[in-house]
Amino acid sequence: MKKIIFIYFFIFSISFAQQKTIEQRVDSVLVLMTLDEKVGQLVQYSGGWDTGTKTSKPKAGHDQLAREGKIGSLLNIFGAEITKNIQKVAVEESRLKIPLIFGLDVIHGFRTTFPVPIAEASSWDPVAVELSARWQAIEATASGIHWTFNPMVDIARDPRWGRIVEGSGEDAYLGSKMAAARVKGYQGDDLSLSNTIVACAKHFAGYGAAEGGRDYNTADFSERTLREIYLPPFKAAVDAGVGTFMAAFNEIGGIPSSASVHLLTNILRDEWKFDGFVVSDWNSIGELIPHGVAKDLKHAGELGFKAGVDMDMEASAYFNHLSQLVTEKKISMQQLDESVRRILRIKFRLGLFDDPFKYCNAEIETQTLRSEKLFKASLDMARRSIVMLKNEKNILPLKKDLRQIAVIGPLAESKNDPLGPWNQQGNPDDVVTVLKGLQNKLGDKSNIVYSEGCSVDGDSKAGFEHALNVVKNSEIVILCLGESLNMSGEARSRATIDLPGVQEDLAREIVKSGKPVIVVLMNGRPLTINFLSENANAILEAWFLGVQSGNAIADVLFGDYNPSGKLPVTFPKHIGQIPMYYNFKNTGRPYNPNDFYTSYYLDYSNTPLYPFGFGLSYSSFEYSDPVLSKKEISKNESLRISVNVINTGQYDGEEIVQLYIRDLVGSATRPIKELKDFAKIFLKAGETKKVEFTVTPEKLKFYDINMNYVVEPGEFKIFVGTNSVDVKEALFSVVD
Ligand code: NOJ
Repeated sequence: MKKIIFIYFFIFSISFAQQKTIEQRVDSVLVLMTLDEKVGQLVQYSGGWDTGTKTSKPKAGHDQLAREGKIGSLLNIFGAEITKNIQKVAVEESRLKIPLIFGLDVIHGFRTTFPVPIAEASSWDPVAVELSARWQAIEATASGIHWTFNPMVDIARDPRWGRIVEGSGEDAYLGSKMAAARVKGYQGDDLSLSNTIVACAKHFAGYGAAEGGRDYNTADFSERTLREIYLPPFKAAVDAGVGTFMAAFNEIGGIPSSASVHLLTNILRDEWKFDGFVVSDWNSIGELIPHGVAKDLKHAGELGFKAGVDMDMEASAYFNHLSQLVTEKKISMQQLDESVRRILRIKFRLGLFDDPFKYCNAEIETQTLRSEKLFKASLDMARRSIVMLKNEKNILPLKKDLRQIAVIGPLAESKNDPLGPWNQQGNPDDVVTVLKGLQNKLGDKSNIVYSEGCSVDGDSKAGFEHALNVVKNSEIVILCLGESLNMSGEARSRATIDLPGVQEDLAREIVKSGKPVIVVLMNGRPLTINFLSENANAILEAWFLGVQSGNAIADVLFGDYNPSGKLPVTFPKHIGQIPMYYNFKNTGRPYNPNDFYTSYYLDYSNTPLYPFGFGLSYSSFEYSDPVLSKKEISKNESLRISVNVINTGQYDGEEIVQLYIRDLVGSATRPIKELKDFAKIFLKAGETKKVEFTVTPEKLKFYDINMNYVVEPGEFKIFVGTNSVDVKEALFSVVD
């Protein structure tokens, strides 16, 4: 008893001693811990989801584990009361009173659903994305959550991969900006505040490169591709101060990421000096057995731990075997201490030792969840996330005095799908559908008539007739097509990326009517929509926009919001073109229509349907030729590039000015262009603005033939423009 009082006094006197650094406080706890208590900090289990409802609570036995100090974290536990109860056990009944950390996948909102991450990335607006994450953190923390398993920063160049929806698309630079914005938004400036949440950069690494786009599949690419394409957003997350990382499921070239010393120790710890902790993905340590690198769970635990996974999510490998691995000296106490230190460090940074219940206030929870402010924030983000892909003869924005509008399609009245995958506690009842959004906008000024036409992926055409009748009597058709929410996300890869079911057939019939057709797409990945692209009068890419979908879409359709989103990922024309991305290599035989032996398909073109960075506005923008501050710089010098952008249209609007660079000759080959900067500017109709970019040496560096990260002297081309294809060029040189 005396000992316990002493320990209690020791920890809490330390926790109030503000002059002590976090490191000292961590060590002061560590020194008291038994081997089993240390291992306990490295164990994470999931609460149990109630089937049918979206609630989850600790499982039987979790209380006892918390009491015995055998668990450091729970995931999928939320709610001020639920978290408080189990936290109470940890901090009042366990020997050392170390608080638990509660993790959850807050991917695009907790209770108030925001646009899916790929939609938010389409805003090319890191400030807005940071704010969105901030709001999500405010809501999630009110419900007891300390830690979100987000941002997902995997670069994805294959739209078949269902998890493309969770990331920021195909580009390392844009992906890095989004990664940093989300980390800052979730974590704020001070993790110890009661409305900041620790972020998790995942899935480290290369998970988006799954062969064939099939989830969990093997990835195999070079060290160069790892460093140039897949790692930069993770590094950006580290630079932004991210507290945790998640090790990925996949292997890269024979080494599963969750057992990769190269990734988890050499790069993350030694090169990047990351001092937070790494959690495995769900049972990714256990999966080292089917991967074929571990003979049993104990061996898997040893491999995962030694590689650098600090916390074991759900595999029980650490729970069952880590103490023994330490007593057998397969793992040193020093290594174990280091992992415990990393976890305690984050708990201290979160302020959990000072107030383990600071996130557990039921009153604050009630006031915060689904607040009006959150709905407003979600609407703002949703409007910024929409990409206009086509607007023939400026058919949009629509006039508000249309007599009858036909609203057709399986996604027009869906309350569930706009929530998108990973919608956490999102509730369909909160969703403003497209139909509702139009009604909100127009009231009874127009007759808005709805017909489903068909389901998302069924094969029945029985609803076509009704839909066509509605169309016949209307002036315009708003056709809402796409995927349902469960067609993208984890384990939701598709072998084809066409519109599912008979939706395209419905579109063909409607187009035949001759009525103007405005397509609103909802989907979690690029789709091959050649027919729509050729035949619809206008297309809005809405992705899954969350609870305010319909209002945001109606604002854009009727010109109350001028769209400014740009694609963060290429839309191919055909599945056979995949992988297709803008920053490809030139090859020794770039496509030449006059030369047979060049790189192309016999039966298809090399060009995308919509290129990376593409998106239209109700304004039109003209670019001057870029002006360079110098034509020649040294390796350590920077260069300024300026361009005048004129809004030549009738509407005030925002434009995303994009800067790409190509290193023309390198000791290793370089992509035909790489995004290196962008600026979102607002221009009144008729206004001209000068946009200036600084090309620092950092933007010219790459991994040379010896894998050194350097600027090589030589000629560089710069491109400035409205997307990755429509650009103006200039040349400069770097001299030794
Ligand atoms: C598996 C997913 O891959 C990961 O992204 C997620 O964070 C965990 N499950 C926890 O739900």
